[in-house]
Amino acid sequence: MKENQPLHTSQTSDEVPLRPGLEGVPVTRSAICDIDGLQGKLSYRGYSIAELTAQSSFLETSYLLIWGNLPNPQQLRDFEKEIQMHRRVSFRVRDMMKCFPASGHPMDALQSSAASLGLFYSRRAIDNPQYVYDAVVRLIAKIPTMVAAFQLIRKGQDPIQPRDDLAYSANFLYMLTEREQDPLAARIFDKCLILHAEHSLNASTFSARVTASTLTDPYAVVASAVGTLAGPLHGGANEDVLTMLETIGSPENAGSYLDQAIAKKQKIMGFGHREYRVKDPRASILQELAEELFARFGSDEMYEVAKALEKEAEPRLGSKGIYPNVDFYSGLVYRKLGIPRDLFTPIFAISRVSGWLAHWREQLGTNRIFRPSQIYKGEQNRKWLPPEQRNTTNLQNPQI
Ligand code: ACO
Repeated sequence: MKENQPLHTSQTSDEVPLRPGLEGVPVTRSAICDIDGLQGKLSYRGYSIAELTAQSSFLETSYLLIWGNLPNPQQLRDFEKEIQMHRRVSFRVRDMMKCFPASGHPMDALQSSAASLGLFYSRRAIDNPQYVYDAVVRLIAKIPTMVAAFQLIRKGQDPIQPRDDLAYSANFLYMLTEREQDPLAARIFDKCLILHAEHSLNASTFSARVTASTLTDPYAVVASAVGTLAGPLHGGANEDVLTMLETIGSPENAGSYLDQAIAKKQKIMGFGHREYRVKDPRASILQELAEELFARFGSDEMYEVAKALEKEAEPRLGSKGIYPNVDFYSGLVYRKLGIPRDLFTPIFAISRVSGWLAHWREQLGTNRIFRPSQIYKGEQNRKWLPPEQRNTTNLQNPQI
C-alpha cells in the first residue's frame, strides 16, 4: 500500500492485514530518537546514548530532545534557571494529594496530580510558543516535586520545599529522602534519567501522541502517558524485577527458575523488547552504573542473582532475541540509592516526560488525529427484546 493512501471503510479484513500491537506499523515520521535493535544502538537527535550519559546532564538532554539541538551556554543557564523557578507546586495541589489514600500507588497519584496541573494552566494555547515553552518547563520542573511530595504525604509528613542551591537531580533526591545525598549518588541518578528520557514510539509515547493529536493541553498528554507507563509490561516491570530476583533468592537457583518459568510460559521480567534482539544498550550502561554505586556504597546480593539470571537466560532465550532490557538493572540502582520500590516507575516518568514533550511538539508540527480502523467481528442486525425474553447466557461470556 502506498504511503498516506487513504483506506475506505469498505476495505476490511481481506484487504488490510490485522496488526495486533501495531508491530512494525509506522504511524509517524520522527527525528527524535533512533533505535538499532539488531546492533543494540540508541541515539537521541543523532547523539549516542553512551555519549550523552557520559557527557551531558538530564536537563541538557531534555533540551536537546524537545528543541532539537543542544543548548548554548546561555540557553542552558536560562532553561535550568526557569526549571528551578517552577519547581514548587501550589498548596492546592499538595492539599489535593493529602486526600489521596496513602495506600494508593504513586503512579496513580502522579497521574492525578499531573492532570490537575491542567486546571491551573488551562489556556490550551498550544499554538503560542511561550505557552509551549512554559508548559515544558512546568512539567519537567513540577513532576519530580509531586513524586517526592506524595512519598512524604503518604508517610504522614508535609512535603518539603525544593532547595534552590541544589541542581535538578540532587534536589529531587533531597526532597524525597529529606537529606542531601552524596554527589556520586546524584550524578548517577541524573544519568539514569538521561537513559530513560526517550525511546521512540513505546506504548506511553504513543499514548502521548494519540492524546496530543486531539489538540488537548500538554498536562492531559502527560497524564495519559503516565497512565500507560504504569503497566507491568512497560514501565512497571522494574518493580517486578526486584520481586523476581528476591524470589530466586540466590545465584544457583537462576537456571531452575528460568526452566520453570519458561515451561509455564511466564515472562521473565526485565527481559525482552519489541525493538531489540540483543541486550538493550541502556541495560549495559545501567549495569556499569550499578557497579559504580556498589563499589562506593557496598554491594547488593541481588546483583549476583541478576548476573546469574542474565548468564543462564542467554542459552535459553538468546536464540529468540530475548535479553535484558532497561528495567533489568535500573531497580538495583534505585534500591542502592534508597528509593522505595513503588517509586521506580514514577521516577521513570520524571525522566520520560522529556521524551513525551518532544513527541508532543513534533506531533503538533504535522498533526493528524489518530483514528485507526478495526475489523468488526461482532453480531449484525439483532432485534431488541424485552428483558424477560432475553437469553442471558451471553452475560457470562467473558469475550463481551
Ligand atoms: N520472558 C520470556 N519470554 C519472553 C519474554 C520474556 N520476558 N519476552 C518475550 N518472550 C517470548 C514470548 O513468550 C514469545 O514467545 P513465543 O513466540 O514462543 O510465543 C516471544 O518472546 C514474543 O513475545 P511477545 O510478548 O509477543 O513480544 P512483544 O514484542 O509483544 O513484547 C515485551 C515485548 C512486552 C517487552 C515482552 O518482552 C515482555 O513482556 N517482557 C517482560 C516485561 C518487561 O520487562 N517489560 C519492560 C519492557 S522495557 C520498557 O517498557 C521500558
